[in-house]
Amino acid sequence: MAAAFRACSYAVFLTAFFATSSMASDHYSYDYQPIKGVYYPSWAQDFGPSSINTKLFTHVYYAFLSPNNVTFKFHVDDQAQALQLLNFTSTLRAKKPPVKTLFSVGGAAEGAAFFSRMAADPSSRAAFVHSSVEVARKFGFDGVDLDWEFPQDSTDMQNLAYLLDEWRVVVEKEAGATGRPPLLLTAAVYYSADTFLSGPARAYPSVSISKNRTWINVMNYDYHGKWDPTATGAQAALFDPKSNVSTSYGLGSWIRVGVPRSKLIMGLPLYGRTWQLKDPRFHGVGAPAVDVGPGPDGVLTYAEVVKFNRDHKAKVVYDLDTVSVYSVAGTSWVGYDDTTTVTVKIGYARGLKLRGYFFWAVTGDYKWRISKRASQLWSI
Ligand SMILES: *[C@@H]1O[C@H](CO)[C@@H](O)[C@H](O)[C@H]1NC(C)=O
Ligand SMILES: *[C@@H]1O[C@H](CO)[C@@H](O)[C@H](O)[C@H]1NC(C)=O
Ligand SMILES: *[C@@H]1O[C@H](CO)[C@@H](O)[C@H](O)[C@H]1NC(C)=O
Ligand SMILES: *[C@@H]1O[C@H](CO)[C@@H](O)[C@H](O)[C@H]1NC(C)=O
Repeated sequence: MAAAFRACSYAVFLTAFFATSSMASDHYSYDYQPIKGVYYPSWAQDFGPSSINTKLFTHVYYAFLSPNNVTFKFHVDDQAQALQLLNFTSTLRAKKPPVKTLFSVGGAAEGAAFFSRMAADPSSRAAFVHSSVEVARKFGFDGVDLDWEFPQDSTDMQNLAYLLDEWRVVVEKEAGATGRPPLLLTAAVYYSADTFLSGPARAYPSVSISKNRTWINVMNYDYHGKWDPTATGAQAALFDPKSNVSTSYGLGSWIRVGVPRSKLIMGLPLYGRTWQLKDPRFHGVGAPAVDVGPGPDGVLTYAEVVKFNRDHKAKVVYDLDTVSVYSVAGTSWVGYDDTTTVTVKIGYARGLKLRGYFFWAVTGDYKWRISKRASQLWSI
C-alpha cells in the first residue's frame, strides 16, 4: 500500500516538474505576474522592514492590525504604532526593488469571535470596511488582507460573503473617486475550501471570494501540532496517503469549488513543529510521541531547525510519501520544509497553474535560503 502510494506520488511530482518546464509556452499562466508573498510579524525583535530582501518577494503583509472590538474601527492612536506603520510602508516602497504592502487584519491570536460579531451586522461591517480603507490610504498600504481564523459555521460563512461583497463596492468607489488604483483585497483562508477538521460542516463562499478578493492565501500548514501531542506529524504534508489533511487535497478543494487558479496562492511554512518521541527507535511520520517540544508550543523556525541540526548532529530524513523532512536527535523530533520539499511543492503548484506562493513568516528563513530557492523556481 505504502509502496504503491509512493509510486503514485512520484508520478505526480514528475508531472508537476514537466508541467513547469513547459510553462514558457503556456499562455494561461503567462498573463499573470507570480505572487511571492511573505508575512512580517510586527512584534519581531531586531528585524526591521529594511532587513527584508525585496528581490525575493512581490508583496509583504504587515501582521497584524486589530480593530477596536466596540466601534469595529481601527484606532491607530498610539504614536509609536503610527510611526511603525509609516516606517513599514515607506521603507518597503523605497527598497530596490520596491515591494507592495498590505496590512493583515486579525490572525490566529485574534481568533474568531470578533469577526463573527462584526460580520453579523450591516452597520458594523460598514464601520470596519470604511475604516480599513481609511487606514490603508493614510499609512500608504497597497491593500488589506483579512485573516479571520476561522469562520465557525455556515452563518459566519454567509456573513463573510456579505462582508467581502460590501468591501469590494467601497474599494471600487474609493478608487473611482480618488483616481488611484483600487486597494488589493486578499484573505488568508483555511487549507481547504469545504472540509473543516473541527466544528460544524461548512464551506467558504466561493463565488463571493472569486469575485471580490484579488487573491487568497491558502494556509497549507498546521495540519499537525501541539493539539495532538501523541504522534509526530507532517504539519505541511503535500500528500497524505491516509487522510485528506494535505496541501494537495486542500488546493484541489479550492479549485473544485471554482475559485480561479489565478487567485490561489499556496502557503509555505518557514517553521517546523516538534515532538518528543515515545521511543527514539520509532521516529517516522506518525510515530508515537509523549509531548511537544523543543521550542515554544512545539514550534521552531527554519533557522532554529538549522541550528538544532548542527548543534545535535541530528539525523535528517526525507519522507517521500508526504513530501516533508524531519530531523531526530535523541527523543527530539522536528518536521519541517527545506529547499528540497519546497522545490517539489513549487513544482506542484506551478503544475496546477496557481498564481504563486506565500510564506509564514519572513523571520523564519535561514540566510534567505528557502525564499531564494522558491523565488528562482517561480520566475516567468
Ligand atoms: C473588548 O476588549 C476589551 C479589552 O481588550 C475586553 O476587556 C472586552 O472583554 C472585549 N469585549 C468583547 C465584547 O469582546
Ligand atoms: C524606519 O525606522 C528605522 C529604525 O528606527 C530607521 O533607521 C529608518 O530611517 C526609518 N525609515 C523611514 C523611511 O522612516
Ligand atoms: C461581489 O460578488 C458578488 C457575488 O457574491 C457579485 O454579485 C458582485 O457583483 C461582486 N461585486 C463586485 C463589486 O464585483
Ligand atoms: C476525502 O475527501 C473526499 C471528498 O473530497 C471524500 O470522498 C473522502 O471520503 C475523504 N477521505 C477521507 C479519508 O476523509
